[in-house]
Amino acid sequence: MKIGVLTGGGDAPGLNAVIRAVVRKCIANGHELVGIREGWRGILENKFDVLDRNSVSGILHRGGTILATSRTNVYKVEDGEAKVIKNMKDNGIDALVAIGGEDTLGVASKLAKAGVKIVGVPKTIDNDLSATDFTFGFDTAVNVATEAIDRLHTTAESHNRVIVVEVMGRHAGWIAAYSGIAGGADIILVPEIPYDINEVCDIIRQRHEGGKSFSIVVASEGAVAKKVDGDSEMVLQDQKLDSFGHVRLGGIGTFLAEEIEKRTGFETRSTVLGHIQRGGTPTAFDRVLGTRLGFCAAELVETGKWGYMAALKGTSVGPVKLEEATGELKTIDLQLMEVAKTFFG
Ligand code: F6P
Repeated sequence: MKIGVLTGGGDAPGLNAVIRAVVRKCIANGHELVGIREGWRGILENKFDVLDRNSVSGILHRGGTILATSRTNVYKVEDGEAKVIKNMKDNGIDALVAIGGEDTLGVASKLAKAGVKIVGVPKTIDNDLSATDFTFGFDTAVNVATEAIDRLHTTAESHNRVIVVEVMGRHAGWIAAYSGIAGGADIILVPEIPYDINEVCDIIRQRHEGGKSFSIVVASEGAVAKKVDGDSEMVLQDQKLDSFGHVRLGGIGTFLAEEIEKRTGFETRSTVLGHIQRGGTPTAFDRVLGTRLGFCAAELVETGKWGYMAALKGTSVGPVKLEEATGELKTIDLQLMEVAKTFFG
């Protein structure tokens, strides 16, 4: 078979480990591989790359994706589905391995229903995909954020400041919860639990009255304020939407820092970690997870389990239906926040 491999959505450390494993295992099984550039855009626009043993050599430790990525939505393009099927046929591609998050795998799931031979691999630093316990990239992001929190701790303490650290996480606070617990944050704000700015300021005041002169607040970019009536609103950078209908989040850190300083009188600064959490070399955990998921995806191809993706359940990697992963986002385990709250203030 000739198998096309693509990576879609935001990049995540460990993508190259997956690509390498898919390529090595599929070649060992006697197949030919082709790299599809820039996610779904590549198959719509016939952008291909050589993908052989040589092209995946030396990439295991590298961040990003050698295939490049985009947030192209096949179903927002006129006749997108038909174009994918035609371009696969024209280029002799029998099957696809799609590596991506909810959006990329959502497209994969629809294509599978339309008869395309496709398997998936779950990816997102946000760890918010259902049907898998962890996604690769998350561990690296948490480690980057934790190191940043450690560094901000010492400067906050030296200057008697409150520092708000804004981390990624649109609808799920996995990165904030994990890095906040690991970094000993004094307050953690996640999208799942709307915050009350008065409570946040009370916790900081009490901590400072108790003798501390600095505080660390970790906030997910998608954290929202509790509203008395109506829905809570996220802080946005602008109103532009991508082809999956996502707005650009960002700004909650600055907003909170201004509010905290105004209300408590403590000097407050904010740091936005942004894409630093997504770039760079993957941790050993993400390299191993990516390799295991890629290996499993190659086995799904071998056994013709189309419409399935590789997933981590406990300590095992195995197949789950694509639609299980894309139906609903996996929000944080609220028990985690009970643990975190013990250390607030
Ligand atoms: O990869 C997921 C994610 O990191 C979200 O947490 C974040 O909102 C989004 O990507 C930002 O990505 P970009 O800047 O590439 O649109």
